[in-house]
Amino acid sequence: MVSGGIFITFEGIDGAGKSTHIDALVALFRAGKRQVTHTREPGGTALAEKLRALVLNEAMDVLSEALLVFAARRDHLLQVIEPALQRGDVVICDRFTDSSFAYQGGGQGLDTAVLSALEGWVQRVDAVGAGIRQPDLTLWFDLPPEAAATRLAQARTPDKFEAQGTDFFARVAQGYQTRARVFPDRFCRIEADRERAAVWADVQQAVRLRGWLP
Ligand code: TYD
Repeated sequence: MVSGGIFITFEGIDGAGKSTHIDALVALFRAGKRQVTHTREPGGTALAEKLRALVLNEAMDVLSEALLVFAARRDHLLQVIEPALQRGDVVICDRFTDSSFAYQGGGQGLDTAVLSALEGWVQRVDAVGAGIRQPDLTLWFDLPPEAAATRLAQARTPDKFEAQGTDFFARVAQGYQTRARVFPDRFCRIEADRERAAVWADVQQAVRLRGWLP
């Protein structure tokens, strides 16, 4: 898929520790004089942030949840991500469609055929011609669900997902593993259960290997 920009996503179970590395990567690109669009899912537009609040706080069946995250994604793609890529920005997004496959699919058992259909509709963007928009690189923070649970226990009030048990997160992690097998070229597995400096070194290496940073 042709575009001037670079689309990088961060993924992983809650408590995997993506946030500080996302901020650091944004800063690193900016220090190299690249324009960066730093955004997140669900969210990234006024409408999508409203949908995020519903998804994270309201009880609903898993298909409704999937429809809402994909509605948010459609708005986010059209309003923010595609225009940024066309401008030549580096788009760094905290979560994207792999989260839907991991959380709604793996975690809650929604048929992945439904998710694939939604992906096909929502990520087809006319401006980029045939094919669907996918990230150029996905940094997948992988760590044992038990380790994530320990980290989350020290965190703030949990949302609907963060309140789930380790069984749920083991299924979410399985969902990510499956996605990584389907998209080996764009997925980069980061062993997240290590000290911050080691994780950061791997994040930088993944980006430098692709020639996106000097
Ligand atoms: P998260 O990105 O971890 O934000 P914060 O650090 O502010 O908690 O929270 C988003 C939650 O939404 C996370 O638990 C995963 C979930 N989610 C889905 O279930 N499906 C999706 O498609 C996306 C993008 C996120």
